[in-house]
Amino acid sequence: MQIFNFNRNSGAKSSEFLQAILRNLPPNLMHGNKKFLIKKKIFSNSLMLLLLLFGITITVQAQLIPAPLKMKKSSGVFEIDKNTSLQFSSKNDSLEEMTIYFQKQVKRLSGIQLPVNRTSGKTIKLEIDRNLDLKEEGYKLKISTDRIVISAPTVAGVFYGVQSVLQYFPGIRTNEKITLPAMEITDEPAFAWRGMMLDVSRHFYSVETIKEVLDLMAFYKLNTFHWHLTDNEGWRLEIKKYPKLTSIGAWREEIPGSVFYKVDSTYAEPLSGEPYRYGGYYTQEQAREVVAYAAKRNITVIPEIEMPGHSAAALAAYPEFSCAQPKQDPPGSNLWNDVTDTENMAFNYCAGEEAPFLFLQDVLVEVMDIFSSEYIHIGGDEVDKSYWEKCESCQQRIKQENLKNEKGLQSYFIKRMENFLQENNRKLLGWDEILEGGLAPNATVMSWQGEKGGIAAAKSGHDVVMSPSDPLYFNRYQAGPEGEPQAGPYSINTLKRVYNYKPVPEALNANEAKYVLGSQFAIWTEFISSVEHLEYMLLPRMLAFSEAVWSNSKDKNFTEFTRRLNMGHYTRWKTNGVRFHPEFFEQSEY
Ligand code: ACM
Ligand code: ZN
Repeated sequence: MQIFNFNRNSGAKSSEFLQAILRNLPPNLMHGNKKFLIKKKIFSNSLMLLLLLFGITITVQAQLIPAPLKMKKSSGVFEIDKNTSLQFSSKNDSLEEMTIYFQKQVKRLSGIQLPVNRTSGKTIKLEIDRNLDLKEEGYKLKISTDRIVISAPTVAGVFYGVQSVLQYFPGIRTNEKITLPAMEITDEPAFAWRGMMLDVSRHFYSVETIKEVLDLMAFYKLNTFHWHLTDNEGWRLEIKKYPKLTSIGAWREEIPGSVFYKVDSTYAEPLSGEPYRYGGYYTQEQAREVVAYAAKRNITVIPEIEMPGHSAAALAAYPEFSCAQPKQDPPGSNLWNDVTDTENMAFNYCAGEEAPFLFLQDVLVEVMDIFSSEYIHIGGDEVDKSYWEKCESCQQRIKQENLKNEKGLQSYFIKRMENFLQENNRKLLGWDEILEGGLAPNATVMSWQGEKGGIAAAKSGHDVVMSPSDPLYFNRYQAGPEGEPQAGPYSINTLKRVYNYKPVPEALNANEAKYVLGSQFAIWTEFISSVEHLEYMLLPRMLAFSEAVWSNSKDKNFTEFTRRLNMGHYTRWKTNGVRFHPEFFEQSEY
């Protein structure tokens, strides 16, 4: 198993390698931005010339991101060569697996197969030390000229120590010497929840792409992948009891030739006279594969199954669970915008009938069988109450349950789902609208409409994850909008604004601040239909975010951060054909 692998170029022959370098142009969707394009071309051409003339490969001088808590450099280097062996402490299967993973990375990048547990020569040792005074995911890394030791109280900590070492490796196969500077690092995360949300409903992304995203997350020490699996525009998870969720709900009908037929999604070519279909879904087996792949990288996958709103795709398949039960139009990208003709559309489950609750419970039973996360995200955002206002059953429920209004009905809905999840030993997580009409007793709130929802929840003793759209929605512009691919017309979430984000708002006192578990950024994909575009929105903002949640240093310095970004990070992506936003890329590192 290769844990970190942008497999497009690993072990590539030199011609493939050169092509991969030349491939790193901005996404097709980008219009304008000629300045960057021209600069890149000059850079790529001169790099190619250099490589051809001297036949060398590149080693880069790395700088760690996120910045470690403490770091002391000393003189000398550890050179990885045939005289080096790997060791691991104690009989611990996970540690053995980690050692083998590390061995594979070294082999992939240098061609050297390091022996395990040889007694002579230089050593790289991975060890668990439960007495270390560090947080669960913390580690110590000591590099001297003849020894590297990574020690941590948990396997997760060892994993992060290994990631730090790998940041000093080149991004691609090299015949040059691989050396690591002598130093001592003591490191641990500021926050336990360091997350990313990806919307795969508006555009579907393959398992391969999800794995690439997980690799990136792990490399930059993020540990929570929130998988937005359902929304109006598509239902993306196989549910065996309700096959129409994917046979109908996973496929949009679109205008032929529209921008949405992009790479990385499967869509069926139409038979003549039939509409184009666009979409895809994950089988349960694939979802389990993703969960296992993530777990090996210390990443928990939290599934989101949206309710009671944002559910048009599910209701296209099973209209009987909506209020008016009309026959539904199939999912389509028109649903992103204000839909004026909602006569044949329903976005909400009916909260007055029992059948929708039983349906959702059945769905969650299958979801919980696939996902082992403590939390299940039930959405809860942007519920259009007008359906419930007009529905006799919903109005009946409001009377029967003594609820004040439709907001009370939303609260009733969420509380019922919380009870169900609790009976199954899981915790409910929802967007901040779950505060409407009264928060379910043990719910955790994900604050997206600024921080006010999160602040209110923390003040009432509820756990909170901060994900304010400004600046943490990475589907929004990072520069521009001139010269940038189309994005939401809201805040401009620049690299600097992401870097300077602090997950704990000043409005919380020290006691209330304990309820802030951490933070996550989100990528909604209404306008992001290709992997290249996804990478472009992700990088380098993911690194600024990782520093905000892992390092959370009091003396942050953006200029210093961009200096470190230019020490190996851009190059790694560039040489692997991974797209990124080039605004702060100084091309002087060669
Ligand atoms: C959201 O952005 N509606 C959670
Ligand atoms: Zn109803």
